[in-house]
Amino acid sequence: MIPSLLPTYNRVDLAFEHGQGSWLVTDRGERYLDLGAGIAVNALGHTHPALVDVLTRQAQKLWHVSNLYTIPEQQKLADMLVDLTFADTAFFTNSGTEACELAVKMARKYWHDKGQPNRTRIIGFDGSFHGRSSAGIAAAGGEKLTKGFGPLLPGFTHLPFGDLDGLTNALSEGDVAAVIIEPVQGEGGIRPVPDDELKAIRAACDQAGALLIFDEVQCGMGRTGKLFAHEYSGVTPDIMMVAKGIGGGFPLGAVLATEDAASGMVAGTHGSTYGGNPLACAIGARVVEIVSDPAFLDTVSRKAGRLRQKLEGLVAAHPDVFEAVRGSGLMLGLKCKALNTDVLAKCYDARLLCVPAGDNVLRILPALTIEDEDISEAVTRLETAAKAVEGQSK
Ligand SMILES: Cc1ncc(COP(=O)(O)O)c(C=O)c1O
Repeated sequence: MIPSLLPTYNRVDLAFEHGQGSWLVTDRGERYLDLGAGIAVNALGHTHPALVDVLTRQAQKLWHVSNLYTIPEQQKLADMLVDLTFADTAFFTNSGTEACELAVKMARKYWHDKGQPNRTRIIGFDGSFHGRSSAGIAAAGGEKLTKGFGPLLPGFTHLPFGDLDGLTNALSEGDVAAVIIEPVQGEGGIRPVPDDELKAIRAACDQAGALLIFDEVQCGMGRTGKLFAHEYSGVTPDIMMVAKGIGGGFPLGAVLATEDAASGMVAGTHGSTYGGNPLACAIGARVVEIVSDPAFLDTVSRKAGRLRQKLEGLVAAHPDVFEAVRGSGLMLGLKCKALNTDVLAKCYDARLLCVPAGDNVLRILPALTIEDEDISEAVTRLETAAKAVEGQSK
């Protein structure tokens, strides 16, 4: 008999009742140290006082009004994001997947309105993830995401990660509307795109006139120590998808774009009932205010350095369990030699939450506010897990 909850997740038998900072407490009263942060969502940890405050205040004022009306909280958040980034305009969604839908529509409408309606192809990269909608799975393209869901949305092709020659060739065919890429692949196994590669991709798009979409749903919002990961490379996209961290745990996403890239999206071309509601945007504005503070981002980088150094030591001490540390800022991956899911099971035994990813990687995505002593405690628990895995294989 099918469970009353559609069984699309392999859930662990852990039910959390409350949380604070980097700690979660189960309904049995057990305390877990959270290095997953809801998969890079709880950027400020659990129940951050500033977010509890803004949420409760806004909840007492106004939750939802239609986008038929002016929403000052939404306008404020758009103004902040435009001030802080390459973008001239923003549209708010409830998730990263919805941001992907709009990014794809925006790119295709751009070329339609420029008199090149056949310029519809979107190029993605192997190992990427852009959400579970029809456009999201078509953009990412992996069999794990797409098998059984055909016919897929047409007009998407894929290249191996880092295949710049392939990209130049594909772009020369003249039918490419946009290239979509995560500056740091998340689900694919924490694979950063080197800065010079991002630069080369930008240059190739410019040469061919194609739009460039960055998916910063996972790597954005301070996760890498910059407000957005692409800032390290010095290049900017035409369109960017944002979600996860921007809501600090409240559902919120956004598409940011230049005026030119967004030029086709005139009144009536897109919409959302819930996207940009006052509650989500009030919270989002507070998150952006906190995370975009240069002092906050410096602290993220300092904590990231400390964590990374300890993880390097852990990998060196347990070569049968781990192979390498990779990633950027507090978006880190432990490339495992043992099965990542076996290591994860032992992490759970040590009351530590991490997240598995592709390429046999264990993701470390703590709250950006993780305390130094919790970093030390996390590595101690990872050590316990590593020893348990070693003990198992003897
Ligand atoms: C890079 C990236 N893009 C898009 C998505 C989809 O976001 P959501 O699950 O909010 O729809 C995710 C989610 O993991 C992601 O990591």
